Amino acid sequence: MKERTLAILKPDCVRKNLTGQIIARIEAAGFKILGIKKVRMTKETAGAFYAVHKGKPFYDGLVEFMSSGPCIPMALEKDNAVVDFRNLIGATDPKDAAPGTIRKDYADNKGENIVHGSDSPENAKIEISFFFSEKELLENL
Ligand code: RTP
Ligand code: MG
Repeated sequence: MKERTLAILKPDCVRKNLTGQIIARIEAAGFKILGIKKVRMTKETAGAFYAVHKGKPFYDGLVEFMSSGPCIPMALEKDNAVVDFRNLIGATDPKDAAPGTIRKDYADNKGENIVHGSDSPENAKIEISFFFSEKELLENL
């Protein structure tokens, strides 16, 4: 069944001029882009987006990194989108990511790992609404 997930091309992806290459891989894997924009998150916004990780040792660095430059959130749609997107990007740490995954191919380290993907359909709904209003989500007709 069609499902939605939120992807973010993180500031390292944007800085390295990899957005086109990563979007091409995402589209080739069958995801439809319903919404896309470029935003610069403040520390407050990045902290709120990753609030689930508040208190963890990597939280401050994560907030610093995600607010260090513009990023590109995208609302994606596909059958089984959440799991399929996580499989496309690979494990959090590129050292552990499977061959052929985006993080394996492009990420420098566990902190700067090119792309975010929602971890459940419930969180995908919350995360999509963090960046997009319903009228900014358009089917490819
Ligand atoms: P994401 O939420 O960005 O898609 O990544 P994920 O599910 O694979 O990993 P998660 O555990 O949710 O961690 C969120 C992001 O925090 C940074 N991180 N750094 N240095 C570290 O030990 C560490 N652990 C996590 C990464 O940027 C990770 O994607
Ligand atoms: Mg996560």
